[in-house]
Amino acid sequence: MQLITLPSVLLALLPLATASVVHRSLPRPAAIAERQPLVTPSPSAWWPTKTYKKRGITSDISGGIHSILGSIGSNIPSYVASGIPQWWEDLPTGSAVMSSLSLNDSQIQALPTQVLNIPGYGNWTDQGWNLRFHGNVFKQPIISESRLDDLANVFLVGTSIQALPPSQASQARNLTAELFVIQQGNQNVTFNLAPAPTAGASGEQGGGGAVTPTGGSQQILFPTPTTDEGDFDSFVQIQEDGLAAGNSTNEIQRLNVYTEGDINGNATAYLVPPTGLTVISDIDDILRVTKIYEPTQGLLNTFARPFTPWLNMPDIYANWSRSIPNVHFHYLTTTPEQVTRNYMDFIYKTYPGGSFDDRPLNFSDVSATLSIRKFLLDKIFLTYPQRKFILVADTSNSDVMKDYPAMADEYPNQVQCIFLRNTTNTDPGDQFPYDTSGFKNLSSNQYMFFTIPDDLTHLDIVNGQCLNSTIKQNLTYGYQGLPLGTNLGNGKKSAGSHLASPSTWAFAATLGAAMWYLGLGL
Ligand SMILES: *[C@@H]1O[C@H](CO)[C@@H](O)[C@H](O)[C@H]1NC(C)=O
Ligand SMILES: *[C@@H]1O[C@H](CO)[C@@H](O)[C@H](O)[C@H]1NC(C)=O
Ligand SMILES: *[C@@H]1O[C@H](CO)[C@@H](O)[C@H](O)[C@H]1NC(C)=O
Ligand SMILES: *[C@@H]1O[C@H](CO)[C@@H](O)[C@H](O)[C@H]1NC(C)=O
Ligand SMILES: *[C@@H]1O[C@H](CO)[C@@H](O)[C@H](O)[C@H]1NC(C)=O
Ligand SMILES: *[C@@H]1O[C@H](CO)[C@@H](O)[C@H](O)[C@H]1NC(C)=O
Ligand SMILES: *[C@@H]1O[C@H](CO)[C@@H](O)[C@H](O)[C@H]1NC(C)=O
Ligand SMILES: *[C@@H]1O[C@H](CO)[C@@H](O)[C@H](O)[C@H]1NC(C)=O
Ligand SMILES: *[C@@H]1O[C@H](CO)[C@@H](O)[C@H](O)[C@H]1NC(C)=O
Ligand SMILES: *[C@@H]1O[C@H](CO)[C@@H](O)[C@H](O)[C@H]1NC(C)=O
Ligand SMILES: *[C@@H]1O[C@H](CO)[C@@H](O)[C@H](O)[C@H]1NC(C)=O
Ligand SMILES: *[C@@H]1O[C@H](CO)[C@@H](O)[C@H](O)[C@H]1NC(C)=O
Repeated sequence: MQLITLPSVLLALLPLATASVVHRSLPRPAAIAERQPLVTPSPSAWWPTKTYKKRGITSDISGGIHSILGSIGSNIPSYVASGIPQWWEDLPTGSAVMSSLSLNDSQIQALPTQVLNIPGYGNWTDQGWNLRFHGNVFKQPIISESRLDDLANVFLVGTSIQALPPSQASQARNLTAELFVIQQGNQNVTFNLAPAPTAGASGEQGGGGAVTPTGGSQQILFPTPTTDEGDFDSFVQIQEDGLAAGNSTNEIQRLNVYTEGDINGNATAYLVPPTGLTVISDIDDILRVTKIYEPTQGLLNTFARPFTPWLNMPDIYANWSRSIPNVHFHYLTTTPEQVTRNYMDFIYKTYPGGSFDDRPLNFSDVSATLSIRKFLLDKIFLTYPQRKFILVADTSNSDVMKDYPAMADEYPNQVQCIFLRNTTNTDPGDQFPYDTSGFKNLSSNQYMFFTIPDDLTHLDIVNGQCLNSTIKQNLTYGYQGLPLGTNLGNGKKSAGSHLASPSTWAFAATLGAAMWYLGLGL
């Protein structure tokens, strides 16, 4: 039966329950409508104090579930709506960092300039290879350990640096130090290119058939100075000089990109031919265990604990890298630029080499935060109009749930497969609802929701086999993952059969709300 409207008792209880549970465990929830256009909090907000409170919590999220059910969604807490955990919101930049550390201009001037150089991809054009360079120019102040501890404790809501084991405390300090950097605008950046021998996890030499070119060494002066936020991002036409032409090879060529003046500004770039398969992969909760949907765990998994692969997912990618001819891997995460190095370190130790995208600083305002994934997906799809893409992520990012099927709609011949880990199925702590309505128009063998990495084994994805017929699909084309496994929508599953009658629903809602309220989880 169809069940689109809910008994009023559910409507009445859920917002209360949500507000309560969030109040208990979330550090700094924020409604998207209330976010600042640019991340420049008042300096006082960044003085370390455990009593720092941004604003009332209940008013931010009450109505969240209401609007989900009203299918508008504009009041969903931003960390749910964007898939960007709230601990990444409102990071300090520029002058806010300077004042929170009481630094003056001459102290900043004395610091060395550093460059975050993010692995780029290039396409073949009438003018030759066209390579994307992107990253950020910044300075990193020297911060005393005790000061770092204070700053880290602002993030570590629910725990403190003193309560963590020493190795975790060290990681939390390192990560905090990465956040307290001062971006440098109006800077020139110069790169030196050279053939790259290897990249990525051992044995996976840069992904698929990526090869070391016989040339390509040259110097590139990035055409424009960095933006006010210190960012640079542009394609640059490079010289062929010993590189294979894109229309005479199917192989991906690897180039090292060294940034002049910073030994930490090294990256590997990928010259990718016009046809073939590209895997575009999210990272959190698909390639590594994050649990962004359990804020306390997510915070520790990000700030303190070593990054850990999700089950045997590395084997799946290693197999694709070995067995799919000339496959290109592109890692696309909406994690902010400041912590990209941690993500890259983990990825290239664990997964095949590949190009990378993160959230640049000018995507910090509300609408931009919500559109960054689509912006980056469009960019790579438009760069390779003849390549086919395999899109991988999990259900806890609502931007993924909207953007991945939208790519299939908007670029009908470019999406080969969409693979989404159903995080609710393995993690009862995942109480983020997600919307499967975007999949309604896709062919049912174009995508698969799966539970464990093994579900992806032995699929002939090169020939378009995206669905493992032994994995039961439960799409309702509406909101799913609501309390007690409730699913909305007019799809085949509809509401769970045991919840079919309104009185059962009312009971379930009361029970669910009560359990949520008590923080027992479901
Ligand atoms: C900046 O701060 C340092 C250290 O406190 C001090 O020695 C220096 O005089 C200051 N410079 C200016 C221009 O205020
Ligand atoms: C390859 O591309 C270049 C530049 O677009 C063009 O000049 C050349 O004729 C092409 N060669 C082949 C074999 O298509
Ligand atoms: C933190 O950074 C220091 C200095 O770069 C490094 O020696 C240490 O291993 C790092 N700690 C962790 C846990 O990564
Ligand atoms: C950047 O390079 C341009 C052109 O070479 C030069 O005119 C400009 O002064 C440089 N800017 C800086 C900040 O070095
Ligand atoms: C970057 O490459 C340069 C030149 O090969 C090397 O000297 C430097 O150690 C590299 N940096 C890192 C962090 O590996
Ligand atoms: C951020 O900058 C890029 C160019 O570097 C631009 O294409 C993009 O539109 C900007 N995004 C926003 C939200 O301003
Ligand atoms: C190469 O990539 C650029 C940047 O995305 C795009 O504008 C251009 O159309 C692409 N060229 C070809 C031949 O695909
Ligand atoms: C995800 O798993 C949950 C729990 O087993 C289930 O209720 C839901 O229908 C699944 N969603 C999809 C899209 O498969
Ligand atoms: C599915 O296709 C129909 C008819 O073309 C269209 O009206 C609808 O908006 C599409 N739905 C989605 C989610 O793309
Ligand atoms: C679909 O639901 C069934 C029954 O709850 C569950 O066993 C299965 O794992 C779900 N499939 C996915 C992909 O979540
Ligand atoms: C499908 O999933 C099952 C269970 O994870 C796995 O054993 C099997 O290898 C997968 N692939 C195919 C093609 O059945
Ligand atoms: C490895 O990937 C290839 C290509 O997708 C596939 O044909 C093969 O079955 C996979 N092997 C395993 C063990 O998953």
